[in-house]
Amino acid sequence: MCGIFAYLNYNVNRERRYILEVLFNGLRRLEYRGYDSAGISIDSSLSASLSRDPNSPLSLRVPPLVFRQEGRIESLVKSVYENVAATDLDLEESFCAHAGIAHTRWATHGEPAPRNSHPQTSDPGNEFLVVHNGVITNYQVLKETLVRHGFTFESETDTEVIPKLAKFVFDKANEEGDHGVTFSQVVLEVMRHLEGAYALIFKSQHYPNELIACKRGGPLLLGVKEFSEGIAASSFHDFNVLKNGKPKELFLSSDANALVEHTKKVLMIEDGEVVHLKDGVVSIFKFDNDKGKNCGALSRTASVQRALSILEMEVEQINKGSYEHYMQKEIHEQPESLKTTMRGRLIRGGSCKAKSVLLGGLKDHLKTIRRSRRIVFIGCGTSYNAALAARPILEELSGIPVTMEIASDLVDRQGPIYREDTAVFVSQSGETADTLQALQYASENGALCVGITNTVGSAIARNTHCGVHINAGAEIGVASTKAYTSQIVVMAMVSLAIAGDTISNQERRDAVIDGLYDLPNKVRDVLELDQEMKELAKLLIAEQSLLVFGRGYNYATALEGALKVKEVALMHSEGMLAGEMKHGPLALVDENLPIVVIATRDACFSKQQSVIQQLHARKGRLIVICSKGDAASVSPGGLCRIIEVPQVVDCLQPVINIVPLQLLAYHLTVLRGYNVDQPRNLAKRELLNELFISRLRLLGQVILMMLLLALKVKAYVERPQVNRDEDRTLLRTLQNVPPVEGPLEQEIVGQSAGEQTGGWQGEGVLNEETPSVLLPELAQTQLELPVNPANTEGNAGLEERPESPISSSRIPLTEVALSVSFISVRS
Ligand code: G6P
Repeated sequence: MCGIFAYLNYNVNRERRYILEVLFNGLRRLEYRGYDSAGISIDSSLSASLSRDPNSPLSLRVPPLVFRQEGRIESLVKSVYENVAATDLDLEESFCAHAGIAHTRWATHGEPAPRNSHPQTSDPGNEFLVVHNGVITNYQVLKETLVRHGFTFESETDTEVIPKLAKFVFDKANEEGDHGVTFSQVVLEVMRHLEGAYALIFKSQHYPNELIACKRGGPLLLGVKEFSEGIAASSFHDFNVLKNGKPKELFLSSDANALVEHTKKVLMIEDGEVVHLKDGVVSIFKFDNDKGKNCGALSRTASVQRALSILEMEVEQINKGSYEHYMQKEIHEQPESLKTTMRGRLIRGGSCKAKSVLLGGLKDHLKTIRRSRRIVFIGCGTSYNAALAARPILEELSGIPVTMEIASDLVDRQGPIYREDTAVFVSQSGETADTLQALQYASENGALCVGITNTVGSAIARNTHCGVHINAGAEIGVASTKAYTSQIVVMAMVSLAIAGDTISNQERRDAVIDGLYDLPNKVRDVLELDQEMKELAKLLIAEQSLLVFGRGYNYATALEGALKVKEVALMHSEGMLAGEMKHGPLALVDENLPIVVIATRDACFSKQQSVIQQLHARKGRLIVICSKGDAASVSPGGLCRIIEVPQVVDCLQPVINIVPLQLLAYHLTVLRGYNVDQPRNLAKRELLNELFISRLRLLGQVILMMLLLALKVKAYVERPQVNRDEDRTLLRTLQNVPPVEGPLEQEIVGQSAGEQTGGWQGEGVLNEETPSVLLPELAQTQLELPVNPANTEGNAGLEERPESPISSSRIPLTEVALSVSFISVRS
């Protein structure tokens, strides 16, 4: 995964030093996406002055400057300033208009080296420059073709074909007499030849002070900051904000993190869109693969109108504040992140005193899920562990068998997934390639696909049938902490929602809901172990290995605790099922190897006591996590090191128990002198591959059209019978309405966060304080919901809603159809 960023100032004077700092800062915000090399491109002096006259001949222009450096962002910053000093480049030179691009890389094709860093270039004159996040799968074929046309390649990247292809298209158009070919026409033609998943930003000498961004796959946002009077009061549905050509600053970024310090007005660029920034105007084109094909001319696609959204994210969220590291901040944020995860979703009180949960993105699909033959949890890493922690309560409350799949393993074995299955995809980023491939596979096999993610508008949010955002807020540390606990809480709420209102388990459901209300306070209590865990870390600093034993609800805690230690402290650590101890791991036990045993109160407590006895008998060096007041019961001779944690309802205990292990991993890492937030060889998200998903959509449309027809006939013959096929077909029909003929110029207004990006209906209805990445205008209109003040006290500030607040605002069908009709699908 990589991060791309761009900054364009229009009719606003900015010095070169300022422009450089904006670009560097953008990269710093994106560094978590990849950090083995970085690069930027800005204008040189002569090209800048001539750029004011776009008609000046290219021969008179000086190519843009390109700086590329191996290592982290700060290595790039250092090398740029060294270069500036050596070349006497004027940092105080002011630009009325200027377009700069930047990239932070996580190597996939070619080792980290300046030649493989971005921007990648078309030629020594840097006529076209490109920064890229994603993978071009057909780059070899394109490369061979371009080599035949005289291009020489200097990198091993898949990206280099893109600027070269742009130059090829531009030169060809000019050779054929089309001297008026626009930047967007060139890029649309380039896109037509690219296969894979990508988000791209183009800069060109031929189009000074312009930028083009496009995407098919990887995330990309546009930020808009205007300087004219009265703008603050302008509506987000005022399309003139994008069209008025007034002084403004425009930003493009892979992540909202890099935008929020400049502006909160954003546009989430959708797949297949080409965004052209020119003369203070933002034009958006929809890429249609068929347009321009075989007609020999470049396509002239009409533009579409989009409204801006407001970013509901504060700069503090992306700053470390008083903390030294993001991981530390995110561990300590958990009482708050859990509150926002639950806010507006727990219902308690009302006349009938009923307790339940309301999950807007799931409520229309609960019946279908309840009829599933099986629920399959699918995820990777921490997300898999979170699902494992939630499995017992889901099985218990739903009565449906729940199986676990590591995403890559499911794809490798092509494991059985049936149309009677509900497949739940758990992913913090919503972009993990393995999870996306498993999603494609499960969709192909007809399962109902449910997403659980922290990222609004992510590939998982867009490509699943329904789902729940965890709303944990931005998580920047590579090792997931607060997202993990929020994922468990969301899945506990999903279990409650699926369980419905059956009388047999009402008492249990009430206990779990009470536990949820109280959880943030209990997490606050357990965070007080910070110093104790630091002391423990000091004792373990030189160890080679650490074992963690858990069972039942806390088998997942053992896996996740060990994963944290492994990921950041770079210490070998294994999470083990305590029930398996005597079937092998016991052989490892001696007086040197530190072993953590999780033995908090639940149905497995006595078994864990027995495990402790056995380990103790073999002189095991034990650290026991137990419930408060249980020290004597778990450490008979007083020989174990004890960590006492608050007790909560059993199914939520993993949320409490992981916290000391997160703190241990954090302190071990700091004490061992390693990088906490960017551990060796790990990045937060893997590259996504949406090509498969795009293909799937095409296939899905065809099959579903046929299915719909068949079902309509069946329904007519068998009416009034209603079955789950109809449920599902209707659902998918809404999401896969075939392309309609109509004008390209459409206003897409009134979208909620999920809807805007093809996400889940109802999930845009978040709450006032929800720190989700995007909270567009319509979602905000939901905020004035009746809150029962009597019930808000003593419940950790969670809101209570006596009745469903779910919005009925939906995009009119024609608008859904429009957006779907432009999804690019390559055959
Ligand atoms: C990567 C990260 C892990 C993370 C996993 C799943 O491998 O290094 O820390 O748990 O991806 O990420 P996701 O975004 O899908 O939850």
